[in-house]
Amino acid sequence: MHLLVTGGAGFIGSNFVHTTVTERPDVVVTVLDSLTYAGNSASLDPVLDKIDFVHGDIADLDLVDELVSSVDAVVHFAAESHNDNSIADPWPFLQTNIVGTYSLLQAVRRHDVRYHHISTDEVYGDLELDDPQRFSESTAYNPSSPYSATKASSDMLVRAWTRSFGVRSTISNCSNNYGPYQHVEKFIPRQITNLIDGVRPRLYGAGKNVRDWIHVDDHNSAVWAILERGEIGQTYLIGADGELDNRSVVEMILEAFGREPDDFDFVSDRAGHDLRYAIDSSLLRSELGWSPKFGDFRSGLGSTVEWYRANEDWWRPRKAATEQAYVDQGEVEQ
Ligand code: NAD
Ligand code: DAU
Repeated sequence: MHLLVTGGAGFIGSNFVHTTVTERPDVVVTVLDSLTYAGNSASLDPVLDKIDFVHGDIADLDLVDELVSSVDAVVHFAAESHNDNSIADPWPFLQTNIVGTYSLLQAVRRHDVRYHHISTDEVYGDLELDDPQRFSESTAYNPSSPYSATKASSDMLVRAWTRSFGVRSTISNCSNNYGPYQHVEKFIPRQITNLIDGVRPRLYGAGKNVRDWIHVDDHNSAVWAILERGEIGQTYLIGADGELDNRSVVEMILEAFGREPDDFDFVSDRAGHDLRYAIDSSLLRSELGWSPKFGDFRSGLGSTVEWYRANEDWWRPRKAATEQAYVDQGEVEQ
């Protein structure tokens, strides 16, 4: 099998490429990535001799058409992925997440190539803290941020291309990922690298927002299950029953550094901040026999802390600019 992996120099995509190359040596991998501020070619260094890397934009119709013409399947990770950035400047999210997906869909349609679309639970909006319901495949779309609205738009394009043009697609909507190679703008790496730098973690609002954490390797094993055994036209929700509020996560990170549980600062809240995400992944588990391997968040988090301690060369060049962007976006202590 020859796979085109878009966004393979990003967090989830690079982890996907690492495990694919290790566990499936028969799969030929081509990565297409434009190396935005979020892409890092160093994330692919461990596998560079085993893949083809193409530096380019998913919205480049001619380039995408040429690459898709010679593969068996596309796994589409590439996106503008950070909510705070989408609030500061939505345009790149429309261009990459909507126009870029359009470009890939036209190519897989023309060449009749299998397509898997990586999406997010944020397309469903948010839940009250005490709501007994979780998101499922039948939950209505209700995105809150420019980021999640563009991801919802891209999902809708996939559904339309599948119904109208017979594209052989599947979609997965996953909850919050953690693990190695995640950009320091995101919640967990930001707090870990702050603590390495002697800076107190920063919690938005009251720290009560809940996210449903899953290790990135569990996300990617689910993607492979869907790619190999998923029903064409089906959406699958991916989650590992990992609901935790942000304050609890910060307290666990502080514990890993031997610090007091209240050694953090509250800062200004995110505009439109979704309160809670929660995934019901029963369909994926019952239909495809998938289950997560990283049951224990605390130990997965501990390994992630160790990874950032051991790989300062990877994240250090991006840290100062990331913190400056938060200052420029108006983040202040409460
Ligand atoms: P990321 O920001 O770490 O990586 C995105 C990658 O896409 C980068 O390498 C970047 O250079 C590349 N890219 C961006 N625009 C591009 C373009 N126009 N052309 C080619 N490449 C481009 O993102 P991530 O966290 O790894 O997320 C990957 C996918 O998973 C996204 O589609 C995201 O919506 C989805 N997702 C993420 C999470 C999460 O918790 N991070 C959860 C569910 C779904
Ligand atoms: O749910 C899946 C989504 O998870 C993905 O689609 C997105 O691509 C990914 O970025 C992530 O979105 P979130 O907005 O949930 O992730 P983020 O890491 O930005 O924030 C996680 C939570 O932590 C959120 O409630 C905001 C809060 N937060 C974030 C930062 C950066 C803080 O309290 N302090 C911070 O410094």
